[in-house]
Amino acid sequence: MSYRVGYFVGSLSSTSINRKLAEALVKLGAEGVEFFEIPIKDLPLYSPDHDADYPAEGRALKDAVASAQAILFVTPEYNRSIPGALKNAIDWASRPWGQNSFDHKPTAIIGASIGVIGTAVAQQSLRAVMAFCNARLMTAPEAYIHFTDDLIDADGNANDASRDFLAAFMAEFDEHARRVMQVLPPK
Ligand code: FNR
Repeated sequence: MSYRVGYFVGSLSSTSINRKLAEALVKLGAEGVEFFEIPIKDLPLYSPDHDADYPAEGRALKDAVASAQAILFVTPEYNRSIPGALKNAIDWASRPWGQNSFDHKPTAIIGASIGVIGTAVAQQSLRAVMAFCNARLMTAPEAYIHFTDDLIDADGNANDASRDFLAAFMAEFDEHARRVMQVLPPK
């Protein structure tokens, strides 16, 4: 069975290490699975005032999440939590009330930082948010990536030391997504 994974990169940086990680992960994804980035940079700040009539950017986000059968978050840690831009995107997709786009979506979380904690604290914060959004979170394996200059080469491939670990993460995500979809078929 083929399906689509929408991935969020939680960084707006033009040189984002998390986008590099996301691109390396896509190359290690299961065969037949299509990956696409769900952009967040043009979203205005969410307000319930928009609920009655979402702007084009908000509608596009909800459409993108709806068109994905599974969701992957690749996020940096900002001040021991997730970046505001990512939280804003999640808030948009979770609303209007009763139209939460993440409901029952198979979801996995990974992230890279330049520090050795490797986004562990941000990921715990994101798990709490996505649990409330009723996403079907992959709980294991966890993946806290300490980004170093040699982690990903110029062609976007993970180095020899990390490739097997990242490939195993993606294989487990594929398994998780398929299991969730078997029990909770996408609407
Ligand atoms: C950071 N960084 C950071 N790193 C970390 O491990 N824990 C943290 O809490 C923070 N906090 C933080 C806040 C802000 C505002 C910035 C800009 C940065 C450093 C961070 O890991 C580094 O900038 C990464 O390069 C961010 O990922 P992207 O944006 O390159 O994908």
